[in-house]
Amino acid sequence: MDPGMATGGGGSIPDVHSNTDSSNKTLLKSQALYKYVLDTSVLPHEADCMRELRLVTDKHEWGFMQSSPDEAQLLRMLLKLTGARNTLEVGVFTGYSLLATALALPDDGKVIAFDVSREYYDIGRPFIEKAGVAHKVDFREGPALDGLDALLADEANVGAFDFAFVDADKPNYVKYHEQLLRLVRVGGSIVYDNTLWAGTVALPPETPMNDLDRRFSAAIRDLNVRLSKDERVEVCQLAIADGITICRRLV
Ligand SMILES: C[S@@+](CC[C@H](N)C(=O)[O-])C[C@H]1O[C@@H](n2cnc3c(N)ncnc32)[C@H](O)[C@@H]1O
Repeated sequence: MDPGMATGGGGSIPDVHSNTDSSNKTLLKSQALYKYVLDTSVLPHEADCMRELRLVTDKHEWGFMQSSPDEAQLLRMLLKLTGARNTLEVGVFTGYSLLATALALPDDGKVIAFDVSREYYDIGRPFIEKAGVAHKVDFREGPALDGLDALLADEANVGAFDFAFVDADKPNYVKYHEQLLRLVRVGGSIVYDNTLWAGTVALPPETPMNDLDRRFSAAIRDLNVRLSKDERVEVCQLAIADGITICRRLV
């Protein structure tokens, strides 16, 4: 979600993610069950630096944009299971998912991360430094479409990445997909966040929603259909956090 979201909707209908923070960002119907998952399997394994950054970010006015702890744990697991070394991130905010990535990568691994705002990244940067993983992080300020195009301009980057995580600028996911299918190698993974958009993708079209949620939900619905039909990838849709889709590049 981008920072324009909460103000961009207009009208009096609340944002579908209002009152969301890292303690309740789930599609599970029972908050008690989500708390159980977090308390039992997630938070006991959250690194101190991750916890400190998460709690600082929860207090930020746009803190609801932060990835949830179970999502960060999933990213860490995927990165380790796939042995990813060179990765990309679109949408850094204060860096919670970025720090999870940097911690999961091997010491000579690298994540190139894009965000239009350095200001948010500067909040998280000290936590990345304190964790001793700053050497793995290459932050690039600016629109990710431009940043990815700049990478594509160098032939050496084509198929050079093992993994990408996309969490910004939902209406452009379809464009990121085309760029990332060239940057991520065959067999590599592209992970999209917010692919259930607070469950709105399954609501009847006449359901009251603010303009921004309607627009983003429609963009995500379109993405989900395209990904499902895309024979260049194998997809796995997970109903954790705000919906996550894992794509494995086939060709
Ligand atoms: C949902 S937040 C990312 C959250 C982050 N993954 C985390 O774990 O905390 C989305 C971020 O995307 C950034 N953003 C929005 N539009 C963008 C664009 N076109 N290019 C790059 N970043 C963008 C926003 O500045 C914001 O920080």
